[in-house]
Amino acid sequence: MKIGILTGGGDCPGLNAVIRAVVRKGIFHYGDEFVGFMEGWRGVQENQSLPLDLEAVAGILPRGGTILRTSRTNPAKQDRGIERCLENLRDNEVEVLIALGGDDTQSVSQRLFELGAKVVAVPKTIDNDLMGTDLCFGFDTAVSIATEAIDRVHTTAEAHNRVIVVEVMGRHAGWIALYSGVAGGADVILLPERPFDIGDVAETLKRRHDRGRYFSIIVAAEGAKLAQGSGLVTESAKLDEFGHVRLGGIGAVLAAEIEERTGFETRAVILGHTQRGGSPTAFDRMLATRYGVGAIDLVHCGGFGRMVALKGNQITDVPITDAIAKTRCVPQDLIDVALSLTDRRLQSAYGPERLRTPHE
Ligand code: F6P
Repeated sequence: MKIGILTGGGDCPGLNAVIRAVVRKGIFHYGDEFVGFMEGWRGVQENQSLPLDLEAVAGILPRGGTILRTSRTNPAKQDRGIERCLENLRDNEVEVLIALGGDDTQSVSQRLFELGAKVVAVPKTIDNDLMGTDLCFGFDTAVSIATEAIDRVHTTAEAHNRVIVVEVMGRHAGWIALYSGVAGGADVILLPERPFDIGDVAETLKRRHDRGRYFSIIVAAEGAKLAQGSGLVTESAKLDEFGHVRLGGIGAVLAAEIEERTGFETRAVILGHTQRGGSPTAFDRMLATRYGVGAIDLVHCGGFGRMVALKGNQITDVPITDAIAKTRCVPQDLIDVALSLTDRRLQSAYGPERLRTPHE
C-alpha cells in the first residue's frame, strides 16, 4: 500500500520517532511504500514530497524537530486548497494519509476524510490539550525541560532574594504549567483554567516573606488570565491561518505588577520554544513509537477518520471528531494537588470550590 505522512502545526519532540515507527513497521510487516509530504498541509497542497524508506528514517529516533518539517498552513484558507490536496493525493497514488498534528491539523484531516480521503490521525502537541487521548507525546519532554529550568531559577532566585516568574507554553490549557510547577516546587502556579486575583498572589508572596522565605517562584501558563484584567496577554494581534493569536507576555506583566504591589525585586523568564526543542525523553520516544505502530496497524484495519489514542496504558483509537471537539483542560482534581501545597488565600487561582479533605 502507498501511504503518505505529514507533520503539521508546532513541532514537538517525538515526531521523528512516530515517523520511524510507522515506516519500519509498514515496510517490515506490511510491505508498504511511503512518501513524506513536506511542511504539513503545505506539502500536500503544493505537491512537495520525498520518498521515505528505511534509509530515510535511520538514526532519527532521538532527534527533535521533524525530518518532514512543519507549518501552520490551512488549506481551507487557500485558493482551492482542499481540492488541491485531494488531487495531489490522487496523482501520487497515495491510498492513505497519516497526519501527525494537533487540533488544527486534525480539523483538516477530518475535512478531507469527509470528502472521501482515507486519513488516520496521530495526536501531537506539547500542550497535551487534545481530547480523546490521555496523553500526547512531546508533553513529557516539555515538562522535563520546564522543570529543569524551574530548578535552575530556584537557586538564583534564592541567592538574590528575588521573585521570579517563569512563563511556560500550553496555549489555553495549563498542563505544562501545572506539571512543571508542581514538579519544580513553585510557590504559585497560574493556569488558564482559573482566572486569578493579582492581589491574592501579592498577598501570598508577602506572607511567605513574613515566614522568612525571601524568594519565590511563580509558574504562569502563557494563557493565564487576571480575573480583573482584560483577558489574554498576547504577543501580537495577528492571527495565524487557524485563527489563533500568538500568546506570550503574561510573565512580564505579572513581574511588573508584583514588584509594584510587594516591593520585592521581581524578574520574568520566558521559556518559549526551548520547551519544544531538542531530543525527546525516553518516555516520549516510547509513547511516540507506540503511536506510530498503532497508526500503521489502524491503516491496515481500515480505521479511517480515526485517531490513535492512549487510554490508561492501552493504545486504542477514537473518531477524529472526538479529538477536535474542544480543548482538553486540566481537571479540578489535578488543580487541587497544586492547591493542597499552597496558601489557601490563593483560592482564586485554583477554582471556585473550596479544597475538600477526604474526611469532609
Ligand atoms: O501548540 C504548541 C505551542 O508551542 C503553544 O504552546 C504555543 O502557544 C504555540 O505553539 C507557539 O506557536 P509558534 O511556534 O507558532 O510560535
